[in-house]
Amino acid sequence: MKDLLQITDLTAGDLTLLLELATGFQDDPGSAGHPLTHRIVPMYFAKPSTRTRLSTAAAVTRLGGTPIAVGPDELQLRRGETIGDTARVMGSYAAAIVIRTFADADVAELAAAAPIPVVNALTDGHHPLQAVADLLTVQEHFGHLRGHRVAYVGDGGNVARSLMEAAALAGMDVAVASPPGYEPPEEAIAFTATEADRNGGGFVLTSDPAEAVKGASVVYTDVWLSMGDAEDDKARRRKALTPYRVDEHLMALARDDAVFMHCLPAHRGQEVTAGVIDGGRSLAFRQAANRLPATQAVLYALLTDRLKGQR
Ligand code: CP
Ligand code: NVA
Repeated sequence: MKDLLQITDLTAGDLTLLLELATGFQDDPGSAGHPLTHRIVPMYFAKPSTRTRLSTAAAVTRLGGTPIAVGPDELQLRRGETIGDTARVMGSYAAAIVIRTFADADVAELAAAAPIPVVNALTDGHHPLQAVADLLTVQEHFGHLRGHRVAYVGDGGNVARSLMEAAALAGMDVAVASPPGYEPPEEAIAFTATEADRNGGGFVLTSDPAEAVKGASVVYTDVWLSMGDAEDDKARRRKALTPYRVDEHLMALARDDAVFMHCLPAHRGQEVTAGVIDGGRSLAFRQAANRLPATQAVLYALLTDRLKGQR
């Protein structure tokens, strides 16, 4: 497996390995040595980023390499150079490419032309690095993943999709509550149902947040308007998603020891109340911290050809 473009690229065993590696990097950041010595890793960001940009830079540095952040105006892409030519050229200097952009098709085109690993650092459709860090956080908190229900409440966008796919691969019980019209895509629903069943978990899709969080160990939400979403859709989204806000009342319907999770950035008073995200049950900042060992694990596993893949 050369690239990590989406969670469905991974086998269940690959995900387990990534979580093992990431746990090792939490304990001993230098345990993998420096496979990236004298190598660069271009990080192309066509959308803003705090966590992904900095945790990836830190992960590359830990592995001995030099991260180089570039934006759309700094490459020749906007002056007509093709994605394919860019990929081939990058392949002659770099060890891997990390990319955050809008269309998944652009990332797939880059990966197809690049002779080196390509990692999706968020697209309109997927956020695999986030999902690996999220499962690492759940495993760290509860000790194991199987037997726990993760309830995602809100917009069925990139974060929801990667989370549900990863949780299903890990054999968790997955529940998603989204308003009509904001459900995750059909392929994500099909993959989650199949993999949850295969790996000993379960899957429920509902429009009722209370149903989703019943018995949940984890209650997760994301922003109402993602970076790829049209600004003029804001009012419609707010109306549809307000009943899906995670507040103290919803948290009280989950397990007594349930935790709250959010990929960040968060909007207090919109998708989550300040009391929940800043309260004692919130793992949001632990998730953010875990982005570093999780990304280090992904880069290390790809660079050392440790992942089998399933495509
Ligand atoms: N969670 C996450 O990806 O954050 P950034 O957009 O700041 O990278
Ligand atoms: N769904 C959000 C996640 C941000 C990390 C977005 O795409 O903007």
